[in-house]
Amino acid sequence: MAPNRIVTIDGPAGVGKSTMAKLLAAKLDIAYLDTGAMFRATALFLGENGWKLPAEEIEQKLKGLRFALSGSGSETVLHMNDRPIGDEIRTEKVGMWASNVAVLPVIRTFLKQSQQDLGARFDLVAEGRDMGTVVFPEATDKFFLDATVAVRAKRRYDQLVEMNSPADLEELKEQIAARDEQDRNRPVAPLRPAEDAVVVDTSDLSREDVFQVMLDSLK
Ligand code: DC
Repeated sequence: MAPNRIVTIDGPAGVGKSTMAKLLAAKLDIAYLDTGAMFRATALFLGENGWKLPAEEIEQKLKGLRFALSGSGSETVLHMNDRPIGDEIRTEKVGMWASNVAVLPVIRTFLKQSQQDLGARFDLVAEGRDMGTVVFPEATDKFFLDATVAVRAKRRYDQLVEMNSPADLEELKEQIAARDEQDRNRPVAPLRPAEDAVVVDTSDLSREDVFQVMLDSLK
C-alpha cells in the first residue's frame, strides 16, 4: 500500500500555521492535524504544574489518553477521549503550559506515536514544531513559516480585538518571545526547519500570498 500523503507545516507561535493548514487541507480534501492542540489538551489534562510530576507518573496518566480525527478540510475535528477538543485550550496561559510539557521526552514520545498513528490512517496536513524534522521525516511536502515577533504579536492582537477580548500588544510580544525561546532551545525536537522544507517568511505577505506560495510549491 502506498504511504499516505503527508504535508507538514512547522513554525513558531502565531505565524499562521493553523490558518494555512485548514486552507491546504480544504484544497487537497484531506484532514488537518493541529499538533499544538494535542500538546495544549495534554497540558490541560495534566493541570497546572503537571510538567513537574515524576516522568513515571506522567507516563501512567498518558495511558488514559486517546486522540482521534473526524471530518476533513477546515471541518476536521480533533478528539481527545471521544470528545472534541474545544476553545478552552486557546489561551496564552495554556499555550505556555503546552510549551512547558513539550520539553519533556515522556510527553513527546507519547504524542509522536499518537501523531504517527493518525498519519498511518489518514492523509494529513500536519502542523506544529517538529512535523517535518521528527514526526514525519518522509512527508511529501514540507513547509516552514516564519515571521518577526512584532508581526506575529500584532496579528494575534488584531484577532483578539476582533473577538472583543482585551489585549495588550507589549504583553503579547513578551509571551510570544518567551515561548519561541523555549520551543527553539529545548534539547528534544527543537523548532527548526527541516533541511528539505520550503521556508516562507510571511512578515510582509498577505494570507492569500502565503497560500499561493504554498500551492505553487506542492509536489
Ligand atoms: O502551535 P501552538 O501554539 O498551539 O503550540 C503550543 C505549544 O505546544 C508550543 O509552544 C510548543 C508545543 N508544540 C510542540 O512542542 N510541538 C508541536 N509539534 C506542536 C506544539
